[in-house]
Amino acid sequence: MEKIKFAVIGVSIHGRRHVEGIIANKNSEIVAICDTNPDTLNEVGEIYGIENRVSDYRELVDKNLIDAVCIITPDQIHREMVVNFLNEGIHVLCEKPLALHLDECKAMIEAEAKSEAMLMVGQVCRKTPGFIKAKEIVDSGIIGDLVFVESEYAHDYSHMPPHWRNDKEKPRHPVTGGGCHAVDLLRWIAGDPIEAYGYTNKKYLDDNWPCDDSAIAVLKFPNNVMGKVFVSTGCKRAYTMRTVLYGTKGTIITDNKSPALTLFLEEFEGKSEFFGSAMQDIALSIPVELADHNVGAEIDDFIDILMGKQELEITGAEGAATVAVCEAIIKSAESGKVETIEYL
Ligand SMILES: NC(=O)c1ccc[n+]([C@@H]2O[C@H](COP(=O)([O-])OP(=O)(O)OC[C@H]3O[C@@H](n4cnc5c(N)ncnc54)[C@H](O)[C@@H]3O)[C@@H](O)[C@H]2O)c1
Repeated sequence: MEKIKFAVIGVSIHGRRHVEGIIANKNSEIVAICDTNPDTLNEVGEIYGIENRVSDYRELVDKNLIDAVCIITPDQIHREMVVNFLNEGIHVLCEKPLALHLDECKAMIEAEAKSEAMLMVGQVCRKTPGFIKAKEIVDSGIIGDLVFVESEYAHDYSHMPPHWRNDKEKPRHPVTGGGCHAVDLLRWIAGDPIEAYGYTNKKYLDDNWPCDDSAIAVLKFPNNVMGKVFVSTGCKRAYTMRTVLYGTKGTIITDNKSPALTLFLEEFEGKSEFFGSAMQDIALSIPVELADHNVGAEIDDFIDILMGKQELEITGAEGAATVAVCEAIIKSAESGKVETIEYL
């Protein structure tokens, strides 16, 4: 069987993870890369032996050349690229967030509906082993019904140079830009929230940054589950997405950087023999593989989906739903009111 031919658009650090994922999969090959920065383009081309290097992605919108593309460029330009590749019938794996605004997501989903090609969104937290294990535990029912779920995206941007992340013309709000990771994770585990109430402030980043740098959101999930998301692009701590899932019979504490997940259970085998009634104070440590930014697994899934071996899960609609929640949080912080989340 012929290998699936890929191009990667945007080959900076995160784009390289995609290049490596494609090379590592036995069913795919990389035939071209694109980047507007010639140094980045040539460096990656030399390292991975990729001859076809272009600075204008439109040269690659050609079904005779590629079957699929990974779009790893600034959030502000995802829409144009996604729509153009889908219109040509080329499958797209687009980085998170699908876009910064819901109207852009709508255009992409409409293009997807008309295209024979697929659109997958790179919400990579769904490939983080600790989060996968946490979802498995929740779905198994052993922590009972969910009561309260919380996650966070806390990542200090203060030392980043002038960049698309602080573009004043097309601002990237941190709730959508990075906070989409935490929002998507909670949506994946607890369903689509119905309402959002947000607060934001700016105490870390300077005037070079057009948006507030920190946010907290209270979310109302289906089945009377409460939720909270914290986002900060200035906070002084290591980047870790600490996530806590409280159920009626147990609680999970996990993140993307620890080799173990913590599970508290009200009931488990051996309880009466060993611990009597003080069970809730005993934490079980469940080892998980360490694989933050697990792009290789994401690429493997995308290729399996293209080969018909599994269903597409993180569709354009999924990516758009995450953006819808982020937009409602931002809107609430501006209006001072609880906002109903409007999905497409
Ligand atoms: N899933 C994750 O955990 C994760 C991590 C980092 C970044 N991202 C996402 O990946 C995307 C890229 O982020 P990054 O950190 O790699 O940014 P970056 O600035 O490091 O890299 C972007 C690259 O795109 C290139 N580029 C810009 N405009 C281009 C154009 N018109 N055509 C071709 N190339 C162009 C730049 O020269 C640069 O090399 C963003 O959407 C970001 O949100 C996701």
